[in-house]
Amino acid sequence: MIRAPGPALVMGAGAVGCWVGGRLQDAGVPVQFVGRPSVLQELRLLGLTLTDLDDRRTHLPPESLQLHAEVPEAGRSSGEGSGGASGGGSGGSPPALVLLCVKSGSTAEAAALLGLHLPAGTPVLSLQNGIGNPAIAAAAAPALLVIPGMVGFNVVRASPGHWHRGTWGELAAQAHAALQDWLPAFAAAGLPLALHADLRPVQWGKLLLNLNNPVNALSGLPLKRQLLDRDLRIVMAALIDEALAALAAHGIEPAQVAALPPRRMPTGLRLPTWLFRIAARASLRMDDQARTSMAEDVARGRPTEIDALCGEVVRLAHAAGQRAPCNEWMLARLSRPSPGQMSGREMRAALGL
Ligand SMILES: NC(=O)c1ccc[n+]([C@@H]2O[C@H](COP(=O)([O-])OP(=O)(O)OC[C@H]3O[C@@H](n4cnc5c(N)ncnc54)[C@H](OP(=O)(O)O)[C@@H]3O)[C@@H](O)[C@H]2O)c1
Repeated sequence: MIRAPGPALVMGAGAVGCWVGGRLQDAGVPVQFVGRPSVLQELRLLGLTLTDLDDRRTHLPPESLQLHAEVPEAGRSSGEGSGGASGGGSGGSPPALVLLCVKSGSTAEAAALLGLHLPAGTPVLSLQNGIGNPAIAAAAAPALLVIPGMVGFNVVRASPGHWHRGTWGELAAQAHAALQDWLPAFAAAGLPLALHADLRPVQWGKLLLNLNNPVNALSGLPLKRQLLDRDLRIVMAALIDEALAALAAHGIEPAQVAALPPRRMPTGLRLPTWLFRIAARASLRMDDQARTSMAEDVARGRPTEIDALCGEVVRLAHAAGQRAPCNEWMLARLSRPSPGQMSGREMRAALGL
């Protein structure tokens, strides 16, 4: 069993939270999961099952899970949904690390709740997409130590109590002394944490990739089929072009987090599909059924994270006196998600591409 600096707490037991928290627990870290009652009920009945594209399967039985409907007070020993057993042996000590895993729209509220219940200085690693979530969390919980993070892979809920990792990609964070002692635990969990002196270029590099999320969500297609549709790739390329122009205007150089350097991504995406298949072979190594979480949000009629993605690009462009019309269109289209799918041709026509 791995030695961790203490228990971890997952704030937002969903795709990322259950995946990363579950892997840490499987590696021997005591983990508390704070989630919605419907998710806790599934976990209480079925336990937590994690699978990945390597056919690796992990099952954590219900009695091993510390499940909480609210952020537990430090010193409270048993999980609300763990059948009375504290499971994982945290012994009620306060978490030594919080993984903030809620969607962007829930960040302020979740962070405020953490701030109310946890000791000052507790490290909170934001494993969220976009650029602004760590700052939002820090403003809502100024006594906590919020550290930006980045999840480079895709996780979806496969069935009740079962989450599936469908793509490759790394876990990264802003370098901070508070994370140093956690590195062996993340490595043992099969999720080595890459520390960066400045995570912002990595966050922007990831955001460029996430500009595919609205395209995927509107297309209604699994990720792989969507990426093999040239019309849809042309839409993604246009979104990235606008982001790159805005970044250049601000002197920000996004990091490479995919097979291609960011500035070559639009050209790569516009290749004919037969050539794209060859050029993007590594990136296309994913499950046939993998989808973005934004596609799931749209399918369920839930708010999307479009403001944290295209909204961020629009704001950056406007601050430089530029326009980002394709991102503006996506922002407007997905700010109030409505059912219905669009083909690549329809999207290109709507965007004048
Ligand atoms: N899924 C991926 O593949 C992936 C990959 C990279 C990065 N990310 C990023 O990771 C973040 C989380 O995404 P996700 O896909 O894991 O989201 P998710 O599956 O929706 O999980 C978040 C969970 O947290 C719950 N929650 C929100 N506020 C809460 C609160 N105050 N107390 C308890 N539970 C709360 C949500 O419930 P409600 O739905 O009721 O609010 C939801 O069940 C996002 O920023 C996303 O962009 C996701």
